[in-house]
Amino acid sequence: MFPPEGKGFIHYGDLEEGLGHLLIDIKPDEVYNLAAMSHVRVSFDVPIYTGLVNAIGVTRLLEDIRKISPKTKLYQASSSEMYGSTLPPQSETTIFNPVSPYGCAKLYAYHMVRAYRHGYGMFACNGILFNHESPRRGETFVTRKIVKAAVRIRLGVQDKLFLGNLKALRDWGHSKDYVNAMWMMMQAEEPDDWVVSTGFTYSVGDFLELVFSKLNLDIKQRVVLDDSYKRPNEVPALLGDSSKIKKELGWEPEYSFDDLVTEMIEEELRHEKSKLKR
Ligand code: GDD
Repeated sequence: MFPPEGKGFIHYGDLEEGLGHLLIDIKPDEVYNLAAMSHVRVSFDVPIYTGLVNAIGVTRLLEDIRKISPKTKLYQASSSEMYGSTLPPQSETTIFNPVSPYGCAKLYAYHMVRAYRHGYGMFACNGILFNHESPRRGETFVTRKIVKAAVRIRLGVQDKLFLGNLKALRDWGHSKDYVNAMWMMMQAEEPDDWVVSTGFTYSVGDFLELVFSKLNLDIKQRVVLDDSYKRPNEVPALLGDSSKIKKELGWEPEYSFDDLVTEMIEEELRHEKSKLKR
């Protein structure tokens, strides 16, 4: 399905500058655009940069594909953050009400993908992916931040964990399942937009409790609430309805919420223990 290990090549490029030179050199069959300023909290600090990369950068990519390599298929990483204040359940037909610079920029790109698909007949898809996690998640996103801190507290190398809003609800899936969904979209007969989610929702507090209970840690002793991790606007609740991709493309997630949390903890324990041995 994917190139075997060692069969990939790295080419450097920047969405802001444009990737036309890579399209000329590589003439790819498929482009998966996962590049973005991807941190919602940070997008409030750098709203203009966020727009340049996440909105205009995608328009530049669409233009380059249209002019240089119009048969190349494009997957665009759209986001459940685009639903913003619209309450669940959220599907392809739900109204978008973004509340962050990140969500607004992603929605601009989402509409550009649709405009190019309908206007120029390009094979361009939006995957509206809900939060997806794995042991490789960046350390400033809440799942990895909680797992990393809890493991370090367990091993005696960290004392406290500082967090913002524990009430927000998220539909958390495993990245491996979601990457399969992206690939399936690109093999579809016709390009379209699809929601990818698990259909289950948990609060940040639920995630925290599960991790701390698996590691036998006391939340009251270790967790400190810190307003600096809160956002000016918060997306209160995400819960996706992925009936469309299940019905049309046969996608099914394999990992449960518990599988995800267990794998993240095990990998983090391995990683932190190997650091202690050095
Ligand atoms: N990052 C972070 N750090 N989030 C915190 C913290 C903290 O210390 N404390 C509470 N939270 C809350 C946030 O307020 C948010 O409600 C929730 O935890 C999840 O935050 P993130 O893990 O940063 O993810 P996100 O939901 O904002 O965005 C992710 O999912 C989107 C899909 O909906 C990112 O991966 C986006 O790039 C993606 O598009």
